[in-house]
Amino acid sequence: MRSKVTVVGAGNVGATTALRIQSLGYADVVMVDVVEDLPQGKSLDMLEAGPVVGSDVQVTGSNSYDESADSDLVVITAGIARRPGMSRDDLLLTNMRITSSVTQEVVKHSPNCIIIAVTNPLDAMVQNVYETSGFPRHRVFGMAGILDTARYRTFIAQELKVSVEDVQALVLGGHGDDMVPLVRYTSVGGIPVTELMAEEKIDQIVQRTRNGGGEIVALLKEGSAYYAPSAAITQMVEAVLLDKQRILPACAYLEGEFGINGLCVGVPVKIGANGIESIMQIDLTADENKALQSSAASVQELVDVMREAQASAS
Ligand code: NAI
Ligand code: 2OP
Repeated sequence: MRSKVTVVGAGNVGATTALRIQSLGYADVVMVDVVEDLPQGKSLDMLEAGPVVGSDVQVTGSNSYDESADSDLVVITAGIARRPGMSRDDLLLTNMRITSSVTQEVVKHSPNCIIIAVTNPLDAMVQNVYETSGFPRHRVFGMAGILDTARYRTFIAQELKVSVEDVQALVLGGHGDDMVPLVRYTSVGGIPVTELMAEEKIDQIVQRTRNGGGEIVALLKEGSAYYAPSAAITQMVEAVLLDKQRILPACAYLEGEFGINGLCVGVPVKIGANGIESIMQIDLTADENKALQSSAASVQELVDVMREAQASAS
C-alpha cells in the first residue's frame, strides 16, 4: 500500500512541498488549510498534472483533518510567514497558537505518524509541536538545517565555480541569525574549504548564509522563501519513506547530547523509517561549542516566552 503524507498549510511552502512529493510519486498527499477551497483547488490542479509527470498518487485538499486520517508522515507548514522588517521571532506567539491547534488535530487523526515541523520560528515551533504531541522524540523533528546548509553550499559552489554536489557541509544550531555553519566540517570534493578559499571570503559566506532567509524576504517583498525550503522538506520526507538512513541536519529534541537538555536545536541526525534513528554526536572545538550553546540559548529565550504565554493563558 502507498504511504500517505499530509501537509498542513497549503501556502507557498506547503503547496510546493506537496507538488514535489506528488511528482516523485512516493505517497498519496493530503493538503489541509483553513482557507476555504484553497487546498481543494491546489490539490486538484496538482492531481491533473499526474498524467503529464507520470504520477498516479492521489492528491486531496481539505479544510478538515478527516481526509488526513492515518497519515504516515505529517508536515506542518501552517502559520504566518515573515514579511519585510519582521524577524522570525515576531512570529512566535501567533504561530505557537496555530501549531498547537494543528498538532492536536494531527495527533487525534494520525496517532502513529512522524511529524516534520517547518513553521517559524523553527526551533521553538518544533519544541511546541513535540510537547503538544506527546510523541516520542524520534517522531517529531524540524526542517531548517538542510535549507541553511544548502544555502551555504550554494554560495561556496558559486565562489569556487564547482558543482554544488561536491560541496559537503553542516550547519548546526537554531534557525536564526546565530546559526552555526561549521567551517571545519566543510569540504569540496574531500578538500577542506580552508585550503581553497581565504578566511575573509569564508566569513562573508557564513554571514550571507546566516542572512539567507532575510535576503530572500527582502527580494520577494511579500512572503519568504519556498523553493529551497520545499526541496529540503522533501529530502526529509524521502529519507523517511524510503528508509534511507540519511545523515542530515535536523532540529531535534536533545536529552543531554551536545550538552543541551530538554531543548529542540539543529544537530546532525540519521533519518530513516522510524524518523530520527539516532543523533550523531560529533566533536566540536571550544569555539564551535560556544557558538552552538549561544544559538541554543537564543532558542531557550523563545521557549521561555512561549512558556510564559502558556502559563498566563491557563
Ligand atoms: P504562506 O502564508 O504561504 O502559507 C501558510 C499557510 O498556512 C496559509 O495558506 C494559511 O492559510 C495556512 N494556515 C494558517 N493557519 C492555519 C491553521 N490553523 N491550519 C491550517 N493552515 C493554516 O507561508 P509559507 O511561505 O508557506 O510559510 C509557512 C511557514 O513556514 C512560515 O511560518 C514560514 O516562516 C515557515 N518557513 C520555514 C522555513 C524553515 O526553514 N523552517 C523555510 C520557509 C518558511
Ligand atoms: C527562510 O530561512 C523564512 O525561515 C525561512 O527562508
